[in-house]
Amino acid sequence: MADSSFTAPSGTHDVLAPESSRWGSLVAHFAGHVGRAGYGLVISPMFEELGVFHRVGEGTDIVTKEMYDFTDKGGRHMALRPEGTASIVRAYVQHRPVGSPWKAWYVGPNFRYERPQAGRYRQHHQLGIEAMGADDPDLDVEVIALQADLYASLGLRQVDLVVNSMGTADDRSSYTETLGAWLGERSDDLDPADRPTVATNPMRVLDSKRAATRAVTDDAPRIDESLTTEARDRFARVLEGLDALGIEHRVEPRLVRGLDYYTHTTFEFQARALEGAQNGIGGGGRYDGLAQALGGPSTPGIGFGTGIERMLLACDAEGVFPAAEAASSIFIVDVVDGTHARDLVADLRRAGLAADRAYGGRSMKSQMKAADRSGAAIALIIGEDEAAADEVTVRDLRHDEPQERIALDTVIDHLRKRL
Ligand code: HAM
Repeated sequence: MADSSFTAPSGTHDVLAPESSRWGSLVAHFAGHVGRAGYGLVISPMFEELGVFHRVGEGTDIVTKEMYDFTDKGGRHMALRPEGTASIVRAYVQHRPVGSPWKAWYVGPNFRYERPQAGRYRQHHQLGIEAMGADDPDLDVEVIALQADLYASLGLRQVDLVVNSMGTADDRSSYTETLGAWLGERSDDLDPADRPTVATNPMRVLDSKRAATRAVTDDAPRIDESLTTEARDRFARVLEGLDALGIEHRVEPRLVRGLDYYTHTTFEFQARALEGAQNGIGGGGRYDGLAQALGGPSTPGIGFGTGIERMLLACDAEGVFPAAEAASSIFIVDVVDGTHARDLVADLRRAGLAADRAYGGRSMKSQMKAADRSGAAIALIIGEDEAAADEVTVRDLRHDEPQERIALDTVIDHLRKRL
């Protein structure tokens, strides 16, 4: 490769056909799935004022280490979005759309300056939903059920759901204080890499995979011990709903998500078919303080995000949700001068048929090879004989059947009957 050639930036990927058609199918499937539950598409900018994302957590890696932030030509400090929720809530606060709850879904790229590895990218893509304006615990059940049913409808079977409750914002901050103090007393026993986190974000220490830290935090105070009765009852109603809907789950008081805005219910879906830290295919939770933090009225909210790349990796690992086969199509092989191919391909497409052709006056053999490679079901062949008679030869590329010659002006009717 020449030195001057470019490749996609580290941690990013080009998605080419046919894999990209699988992405298209997944997005369409998701739109139908959440659309039937009343969620409407929201398209928001890929960048926002930096302050919007500061509200997802000043002590999180996403904000402190991974943000793609920059000063624009007008001197404004902006950032590429690292996740979707903050943008949707910012849009909610700005437009105050009707609906109680207001239900939104979204799809798009997110940017995090992480160390790239299998299943972890600097640009990844999420599908997600957010529901704003209702604190009914049954809405938590709806959101989790939509996510569980999404995976099931793709054919995924090896997915575990882990749930936790962070309680109210007050519960969360008093737990953070208790845990911070407890960890502070044991700082010397923690892995040195985790010590600074005790001061900035003690709950993240629970998420550490380092053995020394793990040994200490096994006995750490648990969040479920700090919840108020109200928060506990609320969580019990969510769990009861999951049971009623037959959604298997495990309560994990150590579940710490990488974002600070969560209150009450948090959850994560893990794919057993994927390895290690990159097995989180989607997660979410309630964020009852976020709208207010972004300058709006106090408004409860809940949602989930699920990574497209990780979902598809999990599908590959389980051998489900394959790419759709190429549309059953027609390939025109014109070995005269390309004029018939030029005109006929446009006529067929205008008639709503999937059609393609070769270019550059290639030989019969080379065009037939292109027809095979395209996955077309039928070849329409035009040689000197056919052109002189205003006819085409129709050859079935998938079945061993005798080919036939038909009049050019009957070709569309003929193909419609056949396909
Ligand atoms: P999150 O857990 O940070 O949550 O990301 C959601 C999903 O995006 C993850 O479960 C994973 O599938 C995928 N993902 C995240 N980072 C990467 C990466 N670097 N490479 C590949 N995939 C990745 C959120 O972003 C929240 N906004 C979810 C939410 C919605 N909470 C409430 N509403």
